[in-house]
Amino acid sequence: MELKEVDSTNTFLKNMLSNSKPVPEGTVIMAEDQFAGRGQRNNSWHAEPGKNLTFSILLRPSFLNAHQQFDLTRAVSMGVYDALYPLLRDSLKIKWPNDIYYQHNKLGGMLVENVLTGSQIKYSVVGIGLNVNQEHFPVSAGSATSIKNILHKNYELKNILAEICNHTEAWYLKLKAGKYTVLRDTYESRLYGLNQKRWFKSNGEIFEGIVSGVKEEGLLIVEQASGTRHYQLKEIEFLNK
Ligand code: BTN
Repeated sequence: MELKEVDSTNTFLKNMLSNSKPVPEGTVIMAEDQFAGRGQRNNSWHAEPGKNLTFSILLRPSFLNAHQQFDLTRAVSMGVYDALYPLLRDSLKIKWPNDIYYQHNKLGGMLVENVLTGSQIKYSVVGIGLNVNQEHFPVSAGSATSIKNILHKNYELKNILAEICNHTEAWYLKLKAGKYTVLRDTYESRLYGLNQKRWFKSNGEIFEGIVSGVKEEGLLIVEQASGTRHYQLKEIEFLNK
């Protein structure tokens, strides 16, 4: 479904789910203008209307346990990566947990909202924001870039959306078939900063460390002078220094 304008495609899809009509798995809600987009860590997500992809996909991964939520994040990240790889090649990276990076710049991100029943995932609203044809970004957007800023061409949003949906479906089916090893290994091999020395901030402390991988359940593994530590999303931040 395509909307001209909406607060947030994630919120819209979640509202659809609380109405009585059943919403089929694979439903995609796309908005030309998302005026109150939501990002991770309670941030907002801004995108110039009509120039970027802002959409949400409904998945019903009832085959996954709550403790496997990160595998869904991995599968969707791999779908987006495969869709963009023919355009952007090896400079494309996934910055843990699920940001889409080109070199040191952020091209997009995702907000995965899982609803659980007991220990199973009942449904998952996967929201993806990808900067495609926008050329100028506010200073507050930090290192943001777009495909146009990299390749100096305009791209048809619908074509990129179709590629992302196809590749995400392929990885989702691998996940459903229990192919965890290939999923986890591929995700790790595409990680931004893997095995490189970087600066981090955690708990007000700034330190150097090396990302050596991601634990099964999604914790980031960072080797540092004091030893190996594991971090959750809100516990650590990469610094550009
Ligand atoms: C992030 O990097 O912080 C995640 C950004 C996710 C943005 C997308 S745009 C479509 C969907 N609807 C939202 O409100 N957010 C996600």
